[in-house]
Amino acid sequence: MLQDRFGRVHDYLRISFTDKCNLKCFYCKPDLPLDQTDRPADKNTQVHHALCTSSASERLTSSELLSIAEDFVYKMGIKKIRITGGEPLIRKDAYALIEQLGSLPVSLAITTNGVFLDRFLPLFKKIGLNTINISLDSLIPARFNEITKTSTFEKVFTNIELAVEQGFHVKINAVAMKNINEDEIIDFVEWTRDLPIHVRFIEFMPFAGNKWEYDKVVSYKEILNKITSVFPIEKLNDEPNSTTKSYRVKSFLGTFAVISSITAPFCESCNRIRLTTDGKIKNCLFSNDEIDLKTAKRKGEDIVPIVQRAISAKHAERGGIAAFNTSGVEKKYEQGRAMISIGG
Ligand code: 5AD
Repeated sequence: MLQDRFGRVHDYLRISFTDKCNLKCFYCKPDLPLDQTDRPADKNTQVHHALCTSSASERLTSSELLSIAEDFVYKMGIKKIRITGGEPLIRKDAYALIEQLGSLPVSLAITTNGVFLDRFLPLFKKIGLNTINISLDSLIPARFNEITKTSTFEKVFTNIELAVEQGFHVKINAVAMKNINEDEIIDFVEWTRDLPIHVRFIEFMPFAGNKWEYDKVVSYKEILNKITSVFPIEKLNDEPNSTTKSYRVKSFLGTFAVISSITAPFCESCNRIRLTTDGKIKNCLFSNDEIDLKTAKRKGEDIVPIVQRAISAKHAERGGIAAFNTSGVEKKYEQGRAMISIGG
């Protein structure tokens, strides 16, 4: 069992399949000038440069990734695995890897941008992967295409409908941002009227290169105020380690929720640990500290004590970084990874 200094048991592993994505959302995949995307001179640095995507030899092979996942499940009590990215479904061996992870005794889930989802739904059905989180920040095609710098809206939207039709539990992740999509909050909720879909508004979070400012966050409170001015809502129960505050508009088929990472964080119930595509453990989404598992795995050493060390170093809140409303705090996040190489 992986327990930290604060008694939090970690039984949920998020595995990043790749740090690449076919979409280019500014808040996740920053558009940095070339001279800022060079690798750091010191290869051993603990700090991962913003856009320093991994090279082939740095990336975990599928057998290394699977072996690490097995260690987590059989030796460290992991009960839930979420596959993330970048975009996990663009990894070349994604199909085989998902199939193999599907044979582990865990609840398996995935976060995807949905572009290639149709090709994978039969596999998900076969292995019992029932919960699919799909990122969609706008219901307006032109706006979605502008945010993602692609023209994939129709594909993503059709795939969402397909997954719902086939009975998957579909959650929609919408990052709520001032002057970008806050005017669509009501439309997203309206979408849940006749469709059993679960919309989650995520407060905009700071990561390297994403030009975050506190003033760009649409807060939990603002989101709820907008919705309650239009709809009668009821609070739903949240799972013990859930990151969401869930609601339903009375008589609607679907639900909505807020992930209030900025204004009402949920660190005290955190049960998450992250494995990056280059084989590092991140004990917190916001922490800049990383511990290398890959080297030990490649040498055939036991990784359990290393993971235990990573967990015991975990801070009480936000990786030990000052609160989000502290002035200049975004500079701290600039020293960490861009979201694209963490996976949420
Ligand atoms: N703030 C909030 N949510 C983010 N995501 C990516 N970057 C950010 C950010 N800066 C979301 C994506 C994805 C989920 C894993 O995290 O929309 O759905």
